[in-house]
Amino acid sequence: METEGKVIKCKAAVAWEPGKPVSTEEVEVAPPKVHEVRIKIAASGVCHSDWSYLYEAGKMSPRPFPLILGHEGAGVVESVGPGVTKVSKGDKVIPLFVPQCGQCERCLSSKTNLCTKNWANTQQGVLADGTSRITCKNQQVHQFIGISTFSEFTVVPEDNVTKIHPDAPLDKVCLLGCGVATGYGAALNAAKVEAGSTCAVFGLGAVGLAAVMGCKAAGATRIIAVDINPNKFEIAKTFGATEFVNPKDHSKPIQEVLRELTNGGVDYSFECVGNVGVMRAALEVCSPAGGICVIVGWIEVEELTLAPLDILLGRTLKGTYFGGWKSVEAVPILVEEYMIGRLLLDEFVTHRLTLDQVNQAFDLIVRGKSIRAVIEM
Ligand SMILES: NC(=O)c1ccc[n+]([C@@H]2O[C@H](COP(=O)([O-])OP(=O)(O)OC[C@H]3O[C@@H](n4cnc5c(N)ncnc54)[C@H](O)[C@@H]3O)[C@@H](O)[C@H]2O)c1
Ligand SMILES: [Zn+2]
Ligand SMILES: [Zn+2]
Repeated sequence: METEGKVIKCKAAVAWEPGKPVSTEEVEVAPPKVHEVRIKIAASGVCHSDWSYLYEAGKMSPRPFPLILGHEGAGVVESVGPGVTKVSKGDKVIPLFVPQCGQCERCLSSKTNLCTKNWANTQQGVLADGTSRITCKNQQVHQFIGISTFSEFTVVPEDNVTKIHPDAPLDKVCLLGCGVATGYGAALNAAKVEAGSTCAVFGLGAVGLAAVMGCKAAGATRIIAVDINPNKFEIAKTFGATEFVNPKDHSKPIQEVLRELTNGGVDYSFECVGNVGVMRAALEVCSPAGGICVIVGWIEVEELTLAPLDILLGRTLKGTYFGGWKSVEAVPILVEEYMIGRLLLDEFVTHRLTLDQVNQAFDLIVRGKSIRAVIEM
């Protein structure tokens, strides 16, 4: 049936309010407006950040509900709105929560990937005209960071989507829409890990394991994987971890344990948990003489304390959003790196679920049972 120009009725997982499970609903997805693209989502990974926005709302900037979560998807363009030139109907695409317009000051800067195009609106769950394209029971449903991939169809701004290789398997490359690209880029772009260095990665979910993979790709010699769930250690080997530390096995603070293990501190550390205590530990694990700590864990408003001495002697504390990738140009390249075997994706996928099982995917995250559950539409 031809759907172009028409409202599409489809299924989506709607989060009606914070702290409550999502529910599968029939939603109406309006046609794309000017410079917008409507996508038939094929698959979406379930990221810890989806869970955090629902269940740790107090640690995040306020977001309006109802909301459709999901920001790690891949699909096919169903139709495009007026003025769209960058993608066409039938293209395989990955929607991007960090846009790349190519024209704003930040897009023109080599220092950042934080394009400002439609930013204020998408952070509030709406598109350029201040409304979302999705409604349910006659009510506007907000689009999480402008994306909403826990829906069979969604509409995103043209600068929040990138065309990928036509043979790319969507149920795998969806992970490049967030988690894997983020962790990998944290090592390569934010830390700029050097060959021969020593790294420590806290948190071995998809983001942390991708950071491990990035450290390995950069030629790090020692990659110390840290997690309170020892079941994650075996899989961390696959991505290149060389040593494993469970903070629960030690009575001393983890920073002391790792400093002893590394003769005074690591060159690079990564916090891929989303816990302010772990953030401070990750910082203090770095060598005071030039160590770099990258915060990847996504908590927005909870306070992080540190002692001036933590950075006074020369440590660097920095963060990264989407691994620093200039999204539109970088993601298709990452897809091709996967297709030629230079980057692992299949190994991250531990569960395959359906759209009405998003709550199960959240439960797997909480119980530490999954690396990535992929929702197949
Ligand atoms: N900066 C970004 O752009 C960005 C993008 C995606 C995700 N994130 C964030 O990255 C973090 C990780 O995401 P994920 O999907 O891999 O999560 P996940 O839940 O799959 O993995 C988190 C891991 O941290 C471990 N952990 C928990 N407490 C720990 C502790 N005290 N010490 C060591 N390990 C501990 C858990 O056992 C788990 O293995 C989340 O905060 C997420 O929101 C950030
Ligand atoms: Zn994410
Ligand atoms: Zn821009």
